[in-house]
Amino acid sequence: MRSEGSSMRHAAIIGWGAYAPPAVLSNDDLASVIDTNDEWITTRSGIKERRISHVTNSDMATAAARHALAAANLDAGDMDLIIVATCSPDRAVPSVAAYVQRELGGLGATMDINAACSGFVYALSVANGMIAAGTADRALVIGAERLSSFLDLEDRTTAVLFGDGAGAVVVEATDGPEGVLSSNLHSDGSLTEILTIRGAGTEGVFAADVPTTVDMEGREVFRNAVTRMGEGAVVAIDNAGLEVDDIDVLISHQANIRIIDATAKRLNVDPENVYTNIHAYGNTSAASIPIALSEAVDQGVVKPGSLVAMVAFGGGLTWGAAIVRWGDRVERLRTTDSRLPGTDKTGLELLADRVQGLGL
Ligand code: ACO
Repeated sequence: MRSEGSSMRHAAIIGWGAYAPPAVLSNDDLASVIDTNDEWITTRSGIKERRISHVTNSDMATAAARHALAAANLDAGDMDLIIVATCSPDRAVPSVAAYVQRELGGLGATMDINAACSGFVYALSVANGMIAAGTADRALVIGAERLSSFLDLEDRTTAVLFGDGAGAVVVEATDGPEGVLSSNLHSDGSLTEILTIRGAGTEGVFAADVPTTVDMEGREVFRNAVTRMGEGAVVAIDNAGLEVDDIDVLISHQANIRIIDATAKRLNVDPENVYTNIHAYGNTSAASIPIALSEAVDQGVVKPGSLVAMVAFGGGLTWGAAIVRWGDRVERLRTTDSRLPGTDKTGLELLADRVQGLGL
């Protein structure tokens, strides 16, 4: 799918925020219960620790949304649309987006999008399209995941990779130079089985026992991710009428530091302009780009007028890129001290039922 940038009506990002659950699960914590070690995880993926949520996906999504709305000095009642990118919703129905609206108010449209780890780029592109079409003026676009619910600690090849969290942006219609200039979304359905989460859908109706597992052919995903994500970014940059060398900041899906480095090289982005936080959060799927974006703005990596490339890949196999010109403002108009109830538990304790399942 192709969309082109122009001076016509499109979406600009005017608010940003994130929520990281407080409970940390370190590589050493994992090594204390499964056959792995910090050195293997760090060198293969770049991950040092991840967060394990003590609250629901929609609680995290709501917390991130509160911060993004405050940054824009708007209320949920101002939103024509709430989209949550997620593959780990609280329930099949209603959507996480509807729960966010229940907590924050408003009567705009609500929906979830599942494009696995590419979900946020897809959701931003959909919001941009609805704004361009005139069906919305403002939207809350959230990426939120609670992948710890699906972790199978008996599978060390996937258990070490994933974590929980949420990030959000508020977008508003503009015909100015800032905002979403282009996006490029794709999927190769012939690759559905190289990355899949079983046991969380309705296929159990057709099979006696479908345990919840994350199944991944890591090397195949890696190979496809490096190629496809780079290609998608180059096409999106071209669609925006720009050159690869114009990109100032790379915000990649945080799945593997080696994949991020390869993409940065392809897009010729200096290391200091590649924002990474995979060491702290692991792979938070659709939440990873909005969390990284929010931190990159707050830490001054995204500057007024920066040209930002957001690139992602995930189960499907999906991939996509969005090219965004940041506006003049990198300060939050308001902040909120809204907090979720904390937890005294460690990440490992929150996973205790699974650990007990291993007889430890
Ligand atoms: N600890 C220690 N050893 C391990 C672990 C572990 N946690 N996991 C696997 N190993 C072992 C394997 O058993 C294997 O041993 P062997 O050679 O004796 O058989 C060895 O390490 C190498 O395993 P590989 O899978 O070949 O390792 P690779 O270098 O490919 O790295 C990784 C694995 C990190 C998963 C990599 O392939 C990768 O990052 N792939 C992309 C994955 C990804 O990005 N997934 C997110 C998709 S986003 C979404 O939509 C959810």
